[in-house]
Parts: sequence; structure tokens; C-alpha cells
Amino acid sequence: MIPTRRRLLSFFITITFTAVFVRHFMSAQPRTIVVGGGLAGLSAAHTLLENGATVLLLDKKPSLGGNSVKASSGINGAGTEAQVKHDIKDTVEDFIKDTTASAGHLARPNLIQALTSNSAPTLAWLSTKFGVDLSLVARLGGHSIPRTHRGKGGAPGWAITSALIKKLEQEPNASIIKSAKVLRLLEESGKVYGVEYESEGVKVEAEGPVIIATGGYAADFSSSGYLTQYRSDLLTLPTTNGDHATGDGHRMATSLSLPAVLCDMDQIQVHPTGFIDPANPDAKTKFLAAEALRGVGGILVDSTGARFVNEIGRRDAVTTKMQDLIGAGKGPIRLILNSEAATELKAHCDFYVAKGLMKKYEGAAALAQEMGVPADRLKKTFEAHGRYARNEETDPFGKTFFHNPTFDPEGPILVALMTPVVHYTMGGIQVDEKARVLHADGSPVPGLFAAGEAIGGVHGQNRLGGSSLLEAVVFGRIAGSSASS
Ligand SMILES: Cc1cc2nc3c(=O)[nH]c(=O)nc-3n(C[C@H](O)[C@H](O)[C@H](O)COP(=O)(O)OP(=O)(O)OC[C@H]3O[C@@H](n4cnc5c(N)ncnc54)[C@H](O)[C@@H]3O)c2cc1C
Ligand SMILES: *[C@@H]1O[C@H](CO)[C@@H](O)[C@H](O)[C@H]1NC(C)=O
Repeated sequence: MIPTRRRLLSFFITITFTAVFVRHFMSAQPRTIVVGGGLAGLSAAHTLLENGATVLLLDKKPSLGGNSVKASSGINGAGTEAQVKHDIKDTVEDFIKDTTASAGHLARPNLIQALTSNSAPTLAWLSTKFGVDLSLVARLGGHSIPRTHRGKGGAPGWAITSALIKKLEQEPNASIIKSAKVLRLLEESGKVYGVEYESEGVKVEAEGPVIIATGGYAADFSSSGYLTQYRSDLLTLPTTNGDHATGDGHRMATSLSLPAVLCDMDQIQVHPTGFIDPANPDAKTKFLAAEALRGVGGILVDSTGARFVNEIGRRDAVTTKMQDLIGAGKGPIRLILNSEAATELKAHCDFYVAKGLMKKYEGAAALAQEMGVPADRLKKTFEAHGRYARNEETDPFGKTFFHNPTFDPEGPILVALMTPVVHYTMGGIQVDEKARVLHADGSPVPGLFAAGEAIGGVHGQNRLGGSSLLEAVVFGRIAGSSASS
């Protein structure tokens, strides 16, 4: 009797141990925590799921999407299917060249290589897996080749991000908790093993490797914020960012006992064209006037009706010229679109007109009257622009690519008031090309990854339009696969 019972007992013990062992070591990957549900966090989450992991995605706002849903110009890719269809020859090398030139002395070749070489496969992933339309291609400032992709429907940021949100919500292995603000990282002997977050007034701990995808700090205007700390000269400007963009991930990563490092924190992109809403000219958050408005042929004039810059030059160059003019009392700056350009961006323009941000005028004289300049002043500006486009004269501001360049002085135009706006933070958490968060000595913080606008260094001193949605997806995917291996 006794030996049999003992044998039975040891049999059960063995079974129990085996079960525990199997559950612990042989089961699917442990859960990974993604902090932030913008495009970077969503891309990381989907990649984790592809690699067999389960995901907990936390976002402090009541809805996902962050600044990603606002993106209005598009996403870059070199050597994409759409470019081939439009007969546009582009290579990763060309994209590297443009990005490196724009990044200037802060260019980091390993990060630029990761961004550009993954671009075409990344766009293919978005179209194939999520059915996102990226069939239209435009040239934005600083690009030598048209490579910024968007679809025929609404704004590209919304189209891409909402497709990823919708699919993630259907994934059984992903849990999404909204209105859950992550407060700090949990660590043990230098290793990150989870987060503490606050949800419905309760503090909760969750365990697993962590991917920070909290976005940038272009709305961190408080007196103890990063803008005050690094760029107090920008505090008076408005921003295009949602109020979530306060650098939370940056603070968590640098609060570790062996802290992560930040880089390039003073590198902040001021976008030249935010809409001044005539009904609310002092609002701190502005609608962005998509760079595509200049890409399709919009021109910029000062208060005298004169052009002053290559409209499709780099953002930093256009901004500097605008700020100089405004400082010299030649503001406000106006953006003017002819009817061909307005038609090409019809969905955008309809929206801006409906919001009261853009106004239609029947010809140059009507606008000149409102501006209080001589009736033929704008007419001269329009005619000169046409001559530059036809190569009869050289544009004094160096514009060489012209799109919809003919402004009929009698024809209808769309006009809007513009201000520079704090738009994007190039600086952030330092990572390597595997999206591992780094200590000051270059060694990775175990268990911690980061992606999207939260990371620094990808764009050096100036980000090219369309490269930030790309950064979100590319580094989100890299972080997802690094965290699951
Ligand atoms: C108006 C506008 C237009 C733009 N247009 C373009 C464009 O055409 N092309 C382009 O490439 N780029 C564009 N950009 C830039 C680009 O949209 C962003 O840089 C990019 O989307 C950032 O993605 P992200 O996932 O890193 O951050 P976000 O999309 O900002 O997401 C961050 C998320 O993290 C959450 N979060 C933050 N802190 C916490 C916390 N403590 N706990 C939990 N959650 C937290 C936030 O609530 C948010 O949902 C534009 C930006 C703006 C504002
Ligand atoms: C979810 O994860 C389990 C293992 O944890 C796996 O067996 C299953 O296939 C996953 N489901 C999906 C839809 O990926």
C-alpha cells in the first residue's frame, strides 16, 4: 500500500513539475509592454505579435493615435512599388544622401542606414498587411526625388494609424488599456522588467520587457519642461502637437538608477507653416499647413506681396526667412494656391476652407486690396513666378522644381495666414540601430527599447518631411523584433 501511494505521489509531483516547467520555458514568448499607442507603438505591437509574443499596450489618452493621426503629408520610401509605377527612379543611396545632407554634422550613419534601407519593405508591409493605400507620390522640401507617399483618401497619418489600430483591436494576444498613464520603469540590478502605470486612479505594476513609444516633447511648455530647459527661445511659439507630447518616456528612461542618455535635445524642428486662425489668432495649438501645400505649388509672400524664399526648400531655411521677415515687420506671411494646386489637394483644402483657415479670393486684385498693397503688386509676383517656371529667368530664391506654377492674376486663389510652429523634436532617447536604449557608455539598457519620435539622432539637425512616420514604423518594427528575441 505505502510504496504504491508513494509512487503515485512522486508521479503527481513529476507531472506538476513538468507542467510548470513547460509553462515557464516552452510556452509562447512572455508579454511585452508597449508604452504609447501612436504609430511607433502600434508598429511595435504588430511586430511582437508576428513574432509570437503577447502584448500589453498602454496609452495615457482616452484614444490611441497620438500625433501620428495628424500627419498630413505622407510617408517616405525609396524604391517602392508606387515609385516604379510612376516611373520615379529612386534608391536607398539617394535617400541616404538627402537624409545625411539634411542631418548635417549630427548625422548618424547607422540610424540613417536603418531608416532608409527599411523604407520600401516598410511601405510594402503597410499596404499588404493593413491594406493602406500609398499609391500617390510627392516631392517634399529637401528631397532630390519624389518619395513621400500618401493615398487617395483622407490624410495619410489617419489612414495608416487607424488601419493599425483597427487590426490590433482584433488581435486576441494584444491587450490595450487606454487612459493608462505610465509613471515609471521597474528595474532590478540594472535590468528593466516592467512599468508602473496609473489607471482610474489606481497604480498598477505590469511585468515584461518595455518598448517606449511615447512620442516627442514639442508640447512640453511647462516651466520645468524640456523646451524651457533646452530651447527657451521657442516658448512663445505655438505648436502643432497634441498635449500628450511632453517627453514622458525621456524622463522615465533617464530616471533609471543607471540612466539612459538623451541626445540632440536642443534640435527642435520649427515648421514654417502653421495656420493662423483669423477667429482665434492666439491659440497655442495650431493646425499644420501641410508641406504638401507647397509641394503642389503653393507660394509664400510677405505683407508687401513679394516672394522671399524657395517654397520647397528645407524647413529650417524657410522658417529662418519667415522669422527674419516677421521680425522686420513684414508679417504676416501668406500662402497662396492657384486652382490647379487646390484641385490636386482638394480634400485638404476643402477641410481648411471649412475650418475658416483658408479663404478664396477671385483674383490677385481682391487679395491685394485686403492686404493694402497696390493692385498690380501681386500680379507682378505671379507673372515673375511663371517666367522662372518656364526657365525664361532664374528664380532669385533658387527654386528649380515647379509644380502648377502658373498663377492667373484674374483666376481664383486660396489664401491663408502662416506662422512658424514648434513641430517635431529631433532629439530624444539614444538608441542603436536595433532600437536598444543606450547608457552613456554606449552599452544597452537590458529590457528596454524605444521607437518613434521618442528616440533621438535619426534626423540629426533637421528632419525631412515624411521621414517621421517612416521612423515610427521602421523603428517600431525593429524594437518589436529586438524585444521578442
Ligand atoms: C500636425 C502634424 C503633422 C505631421 N505630418 C507628418 C507627415 O506628413 N509625415 C511625417 O513623416 N511626419 C509627420 N508628422 C510627425 C509625425 O506625425 C510624428 O512624429 C509621429 O507620428 C510620431 O509617432 P510616435 O508614435 O512616435 O508618437 P505619437 O504618435 O505622438 O504617439 C505617442 C503616444 O504615446 C502616448 N503617451 C505619451 N506619454 C505616455 C505615458 N506616460 N503613458 C502612456 N502613454 C503615453 C500618447 O498619448 C500618444 O498616444 C506630423 C506631426 C504633426 C503634429
Ligand atoms: C496567441 O498566443 C498563443 C500562445 O500564447 C498562440 O498559440 C496563438 O496562436 C496566438 N494567437 C494568435 C491569433 O496569434
